[in-house]
Amino acid sequence: AKPITAPDIRAMKNGEKICCMTAFDYPSAMIGDQAGMDLLLVGDSLAMTVLGHEDTLSVTVDEMVHHTRAASRGVERALLVADMPFMSFATVDKALENGGRLISEGRAKAVKLEGGVPVAPQVKALTQAGIPVMAHVGLTPQHIAEFGGFKAQGKSADAVKTLIEDAQAVEEAGAFCVVLEAIPVEAAELITESVTIPTIGIGAGNVTDGQILVYNDVLGFFDRFTPKFVRRYADLGAAAREALQMYCADVRRTTFPGDKNTFYMPDDQLAQVRK
Ligand code: KIV
Ligand code: NA
Repeated sequence: AKPITAPDIRAMKNGEKICCMTAFDYPSAMIGDQAGMDLLLVGDSLAMTVLGHEDTLSVTVDEMVHHTRAASRGVERALLVADMPFMSFATVDKALENGGRLISEGRAKAVKLEGGVPVAPQVKALTQAGIPVMAHVGLTPQHIAEFGGFKAQGKSADAVKTLIEDAQAVEEAGAFCVVLEAIPVEAAELITESVTIPTIGIGAGNVTDGQILVYNDVLGFFDRFTPKFVRRYADLGAAAREALQMYCADVRRTTFPGDKNTFYMPDDQLAQVRK
């Protein structure tokens, strides 16, 4: 299949919905790609779902490069986007240096960063350097200290006006799409109508140009907490646990390994060694 590019995603506005999922390593990226995702994001949510941190703040650029590079080996068609971690784009220079690493070392085709008006200079510099940028507004988890937790945003008229300004600023700066996270559906609709780039929703209702969810939430691999906006399509955590329990039981009662899993010596060699 022909690889999907950032301009391809940008062109998918008011048409076919854009299907996105997170990925964090070779098998998760391969499964997402084979399932037909248009875009795969190596999200910094992997800090929580894969590395076991309390929030997304402590994942490093080195770690994101490592996971992105693994994911890149599993992708043939989907556009691979790498999240820029907390503080890695605090200045334009940092954004260029760290964004560059996610592309050249991580083998991502684009980067994502959180924020609107305040990060427009970073979005512009990255885009001009040849790095396509996916923006992210609404509940931006790198700002939980400021928000006081993982709380839905954009509930007041003023907040929605600010979100529209943020989305327009990143569009103006060159972003090829923008994530809208945990905002009322009415706000998502207004923002989607206010920009010419696609909006990718997570907890933003069914009015955005695309949807994204976290792989571990969708498949039931992460149950520390499940946000309201998640739909769980499988319980692979439970399936994995049951399978491993069966393995343990078989080991303990010596029904594993069985004949089929066992190597045997040729009879003549066995006779010689036993004599
Ligand atoms: O890190 C992440 O998984 C994300 C998406 C859910 C948008 O930023
Ligand atoms: Na993220």
